[in-house]
Formats: sequence, structure tokens, C-alpha cells
Amino acid sequence: MILSLRQVKKYFPVRSGIFLQTTGWIRALEEIDLDIEEDKTIGVVGESGCGKTTLGKVVARILRPTSGKVEFLGEDVTGRVSKDVERKFRRNIQMVFQDPFNSLDPRMTIGEILSEPLEAHRVFSSKKEQDNYVKELLVKVGLYPEYLSRYPHEFSGGQRQRIAIARAIALTPKIVVCDEPTSALDVSVQNQIINLLQQIKTEYKISYLFISHNLDVVYHMSDKLFVMYLGNVVESGESREVFENPLHPYTRALMNSTPSWDPNQKRLQTVKLLGEPPNPINPPKGCPFSTRCTIRIERCDKEKPQLVGDEKHKVACILSEV
Ligand SMILES: Nc1ncnc2c1ncn2[C@@H]1O[C@H](COP(=O)(O)OP(=O)(O)OP(=O)(O)O)[C@@H](O)[C@H]1O
Ligand SMILES: [Mg+2]
Repeated sequence: MILSLRQVKKYFPVRSGIFLQTTGWIRALEEIDLDIEEDKTIGVVGESGCGKTTLGKVVARILRPTSGKVEFLGEDVTGRVSKDVERKFRRNIQMVFQDPFNSLDPRMTIGEILSEPLEAHRVFSSKKEQDNYVKELLVKVGLYPEYLSRYPHEFSGGQRQRIAIARAIALTPKIVVCDEPTSALDVSVQNQIINLLQQIKTEYKISYLFISHNLDVVYHMSDKLFVMYLGNVVESGESREVFENPLHPYTRALMNSTPSWDPNQKRLQTVKLLGEPPNPINPPKGCPFSTRCTIRIERCDKEKPQLVGDEKHKVACILSEV
């Protein structure tokens, strides 16, 4: 196990008034359990605002959880950690963001961007070795070594995402969190980036936490799947199993709302996704999906279902237990 999250919550304060008092909490993540194993891809899907980026940032230690526990290679890294552990963590867990236009420093050349993590971790003893490695990295992500002296604005979105990927893999990390890595790109470029990520995974044996709206891509990329709704994991398991036998009404609705998604060439008999998710400041008392679920019963409004089942398939719905 590389990284595990146990009962992780992340709440953001809502502040108002002239003294900016905390008047409530945005419940972005609720009691999340997640294990990231070596050389495995975990897909994360769910509507906008359900907590996917927050989850990715907690995994990458960009955000600290409000409660719960995070373990990295058997060590507790939930709160403050020693410098050594922090370095080991930074080296091994990286993130690729959605927007390649904002994630690269415009004042740095590509060479500087890619050398920065190598210098910070003193990977090479000579500048020449480091420069050669940076050139190899560029070639690995499908760019030319001559690009080293250029600046980010001289590149297209797809090329910038390649640079962001090169930076993420520079220190040969164990986990890369990919937060919608293709959704800001032209459709024609999206597949190229997905292929690049696949190719890198095969070579480096990286585990991805792969966040995406595109169910087709998640289906092809992931070994495991997490379906999130309003900060909760409502269904999880082996990707193929969950995709081909979705149990939660939300998962079914999500798959139904994606016209291209039809793994068995048959429409899933079920519900449509109507309306918007409720406000995470004041979520429903019972099942988080109860306000939009077309098959709910009275119990659903009062009881919050637990995620139950085995490693292969888990679901949090009293009407569709595994
Ligand atoms: N720094 C923050 N401060 C306050 N609220 C935040 C912060 N970051 C996220 N949130 C809130 O937490 C909830 C989850 O947000 P998050 O960005 O994780 O969702 P998401 O699933 O990534 O959505 P999208 O698909 O639109 O990227 C949202 O209600 C969001 O408004
Ligand atoms: Mg997001």
C-alpha cells in the first residue's frame, strides 16, 4: 500500500459578516476511505462540486483533512511531519491539474520548470547530467529537446499539459493525481494526452488517481472506480464490475446521462438525473442522494446508508445492497 485515507473529512469554513465569523461548513468530503496500491489506477467520477478536486488535493497533501487519517508507506502523514517525511512524500506524490494555462509559471523557461524539482531534491550531482535528463524527459512526453529555452506561452494547451506531465514524473513518483487532465483541451488532443499517460504508466509503474468527467476514459484507464456524490463515496469497486453492474441509482443515472456510455450496447433501465445536487453546507439528513432519487423510500430520508460490500464492489444504498 502506498497511501491510505481513513475516514477522511474535509470541511471548508463559510465566513460572513464584517468580522468574517465562521457561520457554517462546506462539507466537501465525508468519511472517505481510500487505498492507493502500487501500479493501479483509481478513477474518480461525480458531478461538479462533489469533492473530486478536494480529494485529489488531500491525497497530494495540498490540503490537510479536517479529521481522519492519512498514511503514506505506513507512516502517519495526517498533520505536520518531519522534513524527511515531507521530502519523501513530495518526491513520490505529484499532481497534474486541469488547466495547463495556469499550472506552469509563465516567467520560467521549460528547462527551469523541469529542473526545479530535480534541484530541490538534489537528484543529480552535475548540471550536465541534469540537463541531459531534462531533455530525455521532454522526448518522453513527445516534445523536442530544443524547447528547453522557451516559455510556457509559446506552447499550445496540449503541449503545456505534456510539460506539466513531464514535471510530474521528473522525480519518478509512485502516485500522480490527474485532475481532469484533458478537459481543458481540444477534443483532438485529449486522446493523445490519455495515450501519453497510459504509456508513462506502463513504463514507470505509476499509480494514478484519475479524476474525470469522461466515463469512457475512466473505464479504459481505471482498475478501481470511486463514484462520489456530495462529498461521499456512494459506490466503489473494481472498475469493470461497477461499470457493467452499477448498483447505486446515482451511478446508474450518471451513466445514463452520458450518451456515449453504453458498455453492453444496451441502455441501463433506470432513472434520469434531474435537477442539481443540494448545497453541501446543508446536506440532506439521510441519504445524500435522497432529494433526487426516483426510487427512494421513507427510510432514505432519515438514515444515511453506509458503504457496504467487499473489495470487488461496495455501495451505499439501502435499496441496492451488494
Ligand atoms: N478552498 C475552498 N474553500 C471553500 N470551499 C471550497 C474550496 N474548495 C472547494 N470548495 C467547495 O467544496 C466542494 C467540493 O469542491 P471540489 O472542487 O472538490 O469539487 P469537484 O468535484 O472537483 O468539482 P468540479 O467537477 O467542478 O471540478 C464545493 O462545494 C466547493 O465549492
Ligand atoms: Mg474539480
